[in-house]
Amino acid sequence: MTEVMELAPPAIDAGFVDLVIGLDYGDEGKGKTVHCLVATGNYGVVMRFNGGANAGHQLYWDDMEIALHQVPSGIAYPDTLNIIGNGSFVDPECILDEFSDIAKLGITVSSDNLLISDTSHMVLPHHKLFDKLTEAGNGKQGTTAKGIRYVASEKSERIGVRPEMLTWAPNELREHAISGLERFNQALADSTIDPSKLEEAGLVPIDSETRFASWLEAAHTILPLVKDTFPIIHKHLDDGENILAEGAQSTGLDIDQGIYPLGTSSNASPGGMLNGSGVGIHQVRNVIGAHRMKMSRVGGEDGPLITRVDDVKRAARLRGKPTDRDGDFGRTSGRAREQAYPDNALARRGIRLGVTHLVLTQLDLVPRFGKEVKVAVAYDMCGQRLEEAPNSALKLAACTAIYETFPTWRSDISGIREYDKLPQNARKLVEFMEGNLKRPVATIGVGTDRDQVIIKDPSILAA
Ligand code: IMP
Repeated sequence: MTEVMELAPPAIDAGFVDLVIGLDYGDEGKGKTVHCLVATGNYGVVMRFNGGANAGHQLYWDDMEIALHQVPSGIAYPDTLNIIGNGSFVDPECILDEFSDIAKLGITVSSDNLLISDTSHMVLPHHKLFDKLTEAGNGKQGTTAKGIRYVASEKSERIGVRPEMLTWAPNELREHAISGLERFNQALADSTIDPSKLEEAGLVPIDSETRFASWLEAAHTILPLVKDTFPIIHKHLDDGENILAEGAQSTGLDIDQGIYPLGTSSNASPGGMLNGSGVGIHQVRNVIGAHRMKMSRVGGEDGPLITRVDDVKRAARLRGKPTDRDGDFGRTSGRAREQAYPDNALARRGIRLGVTHLVLTQLDLVPRFGKEVKVAVAYDMCGQRLEEAPNSALKLAACTAIYETFPTWRSDISGIREYDKLPQNARKLVEFMEGNLKRPVATIGVGTDRDQVIIKDPSILAA
């Protein structure tokens, strides 16, 4: 008789991974949610697994404020280890600017609180230059111009540069970066774009050697943080420590599940967390999906945003001013964002990817819609009802939103911390979201500050 091999039972004392992802088009308040969850003391590690300097997470707490792009939001806590996982795109020059901003808060970045995977992919000068050049011409997609599509494309071509090359293949790295800059200079010389437009975008011929030397200096500065993060992540989990994974962008911008080609170039969904860090699927506990009660999109003018608020005055009221804490302008690009009604059909596709709990953000801004707010509950695509958004800009362009309408309220709810104290119409809207999206609402954001949160389901805070 063949012997049946016994499988080792899962280690019951091992740590777990909770994950926060966005369900709209980014900017759902993921950074604030992470910041809030880390305050529970349940997590020893906060980890990013996708995206790069294209992300923008704004944190406010105790009169402090910081804009993070690549560094995980756990950096605000002295005892938390932050990890930039292998699925991320690391821009060494931008990250040094971030370190200076972090230092202003009295926090010193070192390998005690931040590690960068040696197999993440590095953004090189030519990636950013080509992104800018393409944006200035006919290939415009409304990107953040951080070079993401070019670093991702070289990753897929399997010719990308990873931090490990700083140590193991410096000559190949140099050759690749220099030849990229030379290709850019040639592309600039061949470009048919109006020269004044090029100059306006800062697109001028580059001295390859000088440009590479300054990039390399930045890369060497971050080298002490570069490690093989895979065994480090697993050691923490084996030791029973929990990890909070922080998604950048959102399921709507995911390269596979988002509105292709109008999203970004990485996997911002739960699957992206697994590959972008090396965590096993069995180690994931809660997957928290952040969904905005007032949606918007940077670059929304370049693609279908089907719940867009067309009324200019209402959109301006919703957007606020660039100087407002909740002013709706790109954190990375500074561009005014298109304003839109909440879109449950878009969120539902993301929820299907594994979300266990919802975080609703910006409930305090709902009265800005006026007396009523519309929620898209499904799409109509040429007479066919779709419950979930298609992962295609071509199909989305053929869709219209099917709405349900709800009365709003007039009072300011930003000071409320108990669910029962919310106006009845606000509670009805929250409960509608739970029923329509078939997931419990864990927390509700009522302002930009870390503490402006209503905990609806305290189980989310359990270790
Ligand atoms: P890229 O990621 O810079 O290539 O930009 C592709 C698209 O994703 C553009 O519409 C960007 O505005 C959008 N995008 C990328 N990252 C973010 C983000 O963190 N928040 C919101 N939109 C983003």
